[in-house]
Amino acid sequence: MSAVLKCAPSFVPMQPEDIDAVLAIEQGAYPFPWTRANFADSLASGYSAWCCRIGNVLVGHAVMMLVLDEAHLLNVTIAREWQRRGHGQLTMQHLFAMARTHGAKRMFLEVRPSNASGQELYRRLGFETIGRRRGYYPAGEAREDAVVMAVDL
Ligand SMILES: CC(C)(COP(=O)(O)OP(=O)(O)OC[C@H]1O[C@@H](n2cnc3c(N)ncnc32)[C@H](O)[C@@H]1OP(=O)(O)O)[C@@H](O)C(=O)NCCC(=O)NCCS
Repeated sequence: MSAVLKCAPSFVPMQPEDIDAVLAIEQGAYPFPWTRANFADSLASGYSAWCCRIGNVLVGHAVMMLVLDEAHLLNVTIAREWQRRGHGQLTMQHLFAMARTHGAKRMFLEVRPSNASGQELYRRLGFETIGRRRGYYPAGEAREDAVVMAVDL
């Protein structure tokens, strides 16, 4: 088996018992991470929630909400030590495939203007900026805007 195949991630639906490990990745990746309740609520709401694994190692996670013909990306995170190896792009491609399977025609997301790596990943996947939400994100004492992006699926 080639090195590439050995390192190819698999995507498995997130389960409640994954949340501890997901939170560890989340807390290592963001200054304002999602909470346990955010993930538990997402699972309880039936959102499309995924673990990205290499063998038994959890390397990332993603959560998306599917509403009629729209997909809303809520969270995509790759563990710091696994970043910049293509897993974020593969995770997004998995979400695109799942969204299309459920009849979504367009995917939307919000990203911090300060998040250059996220914006670069999204642009590379075809997302375009369609707007801005003022004061959308917590940012210490203040708030940070969100850039709203979308792509046709
Ligand atoms: C954004 C994130 C998911 C990208 O995951 P990743 O596995 O590191 O990304 P990939 O290796 O698949 O990169 C794909 C492309 O995205 C862009 N990219 C990714 N990280 C980047 C960085 N640090 N700087 C600039 N471009 C970057 C590049 O175009 C890259 O292609 P290249 O490596 O051929 O140049 C990851 O950095 C992450 O989890 N960050 C913290 C959480 C976060 O910000 N999530 C998005 C919230 S909206």
